[in-house]
Amino acid sequence: MSSIIKKIALSGSAIFLLMQLYQPERNIDYVRVSPMHFFKTFSVPAKVQDVLQTSCFDCHSNNTNYPWYSYVQPVRMLMDSHINEGKENLNFSEFGTYSKRKQRSKLDRMIKQIKSDEMPLASYTMIHRNAILTNENKALLLKWIEKKSDSILANN
Ligand code: HEC
Repeated sequence: MSSIIKKIALSGSAIFLLMQLYQPERNIDYVRVSPMHFFKTFSVPAKVQDVLQTSCFDCHSNNTNYPWYSYVQPVRMLMDSHINEGKENLNFSEFGTYSKRKQRSKLDRMIKQIKSDEMPLASYTMIHRNAILTNENKALLLKWIEKKSDSILANN
């Protein structure tokens, strides 16, 4: 290896190591289930709960499951930006604080995102293989969410 390449490789690893020192606070709410949680707002069948938990909650709730590689930068920074942006758009932990109108609109957006395969984000399922929605789970979610959205409509 020429010395210039060695130098580049060395400074690259130094930067990588320094990046590891940045370990920001994690997205974990120690109140197990907030009274404003989606699962408290609606009565949600266990199977639907499981799928939402596995495929959506890491970015759309106040409780992220952090795998070991989430402690490795820059993975963590990428994850944090998804979590912040995801929660801003839709937070299942605080769903009950939304107005009925907003709840309905979020349910409808979920349907759109799931149907068009935009959620869960592809960059996430690349690593979190178990979060990929099978056709069966997709159908299960869509059926339940559509029914729920209609019932909110009926109650207004
Ligand atoms: C890796 C993190 C991540 C996962 C997992 C994830 N999302 Fe998202 N979601 C985001 C981000 C970031 C945005 C905002 C940017 C965008 O729309 O791409 C978003 C936006 C959305 C929106 C749009 C909200 C609005 O008001 O327009 C909906 C609805 C949504 N996600 C539903 C879901 C559902 C349902 C799942 C699970 C099946 C899911 N997401 C899984 C990160 C994620």
